[in-house]
Amino acid sequence: MKVSIIGTGYVGLVTGACLADKGHQIICVDVDEEKINKINHTALPFYEPGLGELLNKNIGVRLTATTDLHQSVVETDITFITVGTPFNGKEIDLTYLKDAATQIGQALKGKNTYHLVVLKSTVVPGTTDEVVRPILETASGRKAGVDFGVGMNPEFLTEGEAVQDFMFPDRIIFGGIDDQSRHVLEELYIPFAGAERIRTNNKTAEMIKYTSNALLATMISFSNELGNLCAALRGVDVVDVMRGLHSSKYLSPVLTNGDRITPPIAAFLWAGCGFGGSCLPKDVKALIAHGEKARMPMRLLDAVIRVNEDQPQQVFSLLKRHFPSFKGIRIAVLGLAFRPDTDDMRESPAIPIITGLLAHEAEIQAYDPVAKQEAAKVFGDSKITLCDSMAEVIRDVQAIVLVTRWEEFRSLPKLLEDLDPQPVVIDGRRMLDKSSIAKYEGIGL
Ligand code: UDX
Repeated sequence: MKVSIIGTGYVGLVTGACLADKGHQIICVDVDEEKINKINHTALPFYEPGLGELLNKNIGVRLTATTDLHQSVVETDITFITVGTPFNGKEIDLTYLKDAATQIGQALKGKNTYHLVVLKSTVVPGTTDEVVRPILETASGRKAGVDFGVGMNPEFLTEGEAVQDFMFPDRIIFGGIDDQSRHVLEELYIPFAGAERIRTNNKTAEMIKYTSNALLATMISFSNELGNLCAALRGVDVVDVMRGLHSSKYLSPVLTNGDRITPPIAAFLWAGCGFGGSCLPKDVKALIAHGEKARMPMRLLDAVIRVNEDQPQQVFSLLKRHFPSFKGIRIAVLGLAFRPDTDDMRESPAIPIITGLLAHEAEIQAYDPVAKQEAAKVFGDSKITLCDSMAEVIRDVQAIVLVTRWEEFRSLPKLLEDLDPQPVVIDGRRMLDKSSIAKYEGIGL
C-alpha cells in the first residue's frame, strides 16, 4: 500500500522504515530539511539499533523522504500523523498536530479516491474525533466516513528496541470512526502476523495508550517510594525486598518443571533514580490535566509524577553522606540518555541530577556510550566535560553517579581496581554488586 508519514522523529521514521521493509511504499515527511537530507543519504538523525540497516535496504527502493507534505498525501492512500505532542506545562500541546491535520486536509481537497488518515501520535482521549476529524473536514471540504476515513493506531515502541517492537508487535490497536477505516488499517498490518488485534473506536484506542504508559510510570514510582523508605529505615535493602516481591507467583509464575517465567513488566519494579523519556512524564501529566478537565482528579497519577520529580534528591542525599558541600567536588556521571540503547535525553533524570550538582558548584564530567552529541545540545555552554570513555570519565574524580542502566557500566568495579584513592559510587540504578565496590551507595540501600 502507499503510505505517507507526517513527522519523521523516533516514531515516524521507525514506522516508515518497518512498513517499507514489509513491502509497502512509504514517503516520510518532515518540516526539518536537515533531517530529510540525512535520511535520503541513509544517515540516521538519531541512534536506534537496527534502524540503519532497514534504511540502507529500503531508501530509494520503497522509502523516500521529503518536506513536501501536500504531494506526499496526494500520492498515497494512507497518511499517518506522527508529529510531537508535547506537554506545555498545563496540558497537551496540539499545535503541531493541528498544523499537520490542516495541511493534510488541504491536500485531500483535490483527491478523488478514498484516503485514510491515521493518528499515531499519543493524544488525550477524544482528540482524533473532536480535534483532528473536524480540522480535516473543514480544510478538505469533504466528509469523514464518506470521502475519507479517520483512524487511531497508537504506537508501543520502546526507544532502543523500537525496530524489534514494530516488527514483532504484541498488540495492534485498530481505532477508527467506522468499519472502513479499521479495515484499511488492518490490511496495512497483514504482514505483521501473530499480534493481538484489537478493533475499537478512536477514543478507546487513545485511552489504551495512556493506560499502558500510566501503569508503567506507576510501577516505577511505587518501587522508588518503597526504596526511599527502605533507605530511611536503615538495615533494609530495596534490592532484597524487591527480590522477595519478584518471587511471588504473580510476578514470576512457577512452571511444573520448577522453572520460572519472568514477565518483562517485572523490569519496572526496581528502585532507581527515576523515569524520563519523551513519553512517560509527558503522557502521565497530560492525562492528569485531562482528568481535571473531566472533573475526575487523577490523585494516584499526580503522586506518581511527584515521586518521580523528587527522585534526583535521593542521589544528592547519598552524596551528602560523604561530602557536606559539593563545591569543587569532581563528580563523574555515567549515563546521560533516559534509558540504555538510545541517545534520547528528553526528560532524562541525568538533567536534573547534573543541573542540581552544578548549582551546588560541583565539577561535572560525564560519559554516555551514544548520547554525547545530544548532551552537548542539552547542556550547551554549561561547565560540564563530556568524555569519550568510562576510563576517561572516572579519572581523578571523588564520586561517580551511575544514572543510566547501560550494560557497559557493569565493568565499573573492574576499572575501579586501578584507582587510588577510591571514589564514592552512587548506583542510581542498583545494577552493580554492592560488595564489588569499596565505597558503594545505592538508591534504596
Ligand atoms: C512523537 C510524540 O512525542 C509522541 O507522543 C507520539 O506518540 C509520537 O510522536 P517522537 O517520534 O519521539 O514522538 O517525536 P519527535 O522525535 O519529536 O518527532 C516529531 C517529528 O515531527 C520531528 O522530526 C519534527 O520535525 C516533525 N514535525 C513536527 C513535523 O514534521 N511537522 C510539524 O508540524 C511538527
